[in-house]
Amino acid sequence: MQRKQGYRIRQMGIDDILSIARLYRSLYGEKRTPLLGEALAKKKPTEGELLQTEIWWFRDLEKGNPIASVAEADGEVVGMCNVKCNWPGSEVGHVGELDMTVRKDYRGIGIGKALMKDVMDRSKKKFTLIQTYVMTSNVPSKRLLDRFGFKIAGTIPRRLRRNGKYYPDYLMYKEL
Ligand SMILES: CC(C)(COP(=O)(O)OP(=O)(O)OC[C@H]1O[C@@H](n2cnc3c(N)ncnc32)[C@H](O)[C@@H]1OP(=O)(O)O)[C@@H](O)C(=O)NCCC(=O)NCCS
Repeated sequence: MQRKQGYRIRQMGIDDILSIARLYRSLYGEKRTPLLGEALAKKKPTEGELLQTEIWWFRDLEKGNPIASVAEADGEVVGMCNVKCNWPGSEVGHVGELDMTVRKDYRGIGIGKALMKDVMDRSKKKFTLIQTYVMTSNVPSKRLLDRFGFKIAGTIPRRLRRNGKYYPDYLMYKEL
């Protein structure tokens, strides 16, 4: 596959909702590779179904949780990274969970690194701890997290079940 070049990093906005749905759907072609660390719904959702679930997420985005950035190329979102608190206002309200995805044809050119830098810098104002799950086979993701100073808290066996098989995840964290 030919790698593409040329992108810009910016904050995610409400207008990105459809583009994000397309990015998520594009991951379904990769379910058989050991490098896909993103957990997916078992049945590929339609764009309409995704919009329905994303709408709450985007409502929270307007309130500043999650902190989210995208990589844009040719008017389309080709990568995104976000840190989201799953229980604001609680005793774990200082904890954010990190998630990131770059479209396959834009990987390996530094977009993941640029997105993470942007989101981590902005997260310092909001969170004091960031955690994430990463499949132990997901070399690029693990490498990125190592580079940004994430540590392994432990290995969780059978956290992900894909195509009838279980896979282990690392639970990783970084104190800000
Ligand atoms: C993880 C992911 C976001 C990284 O995005 P990316 O834009 O390709 O990342 P970068 O180009 O910034 O590269 C990040 C690091 O991974 C390394 N890397 C990239 N592709 C690699 C590959 N196929 N094999 C080994 N290392 C790889 C890079 O060399 C770089 O490390 P370095 O800084 O030590 O050189 C991307 O691979 C992805 O979207 N994967 C599918 C979804 C997913 O698994 N998300 C993670 C959920 S936790």
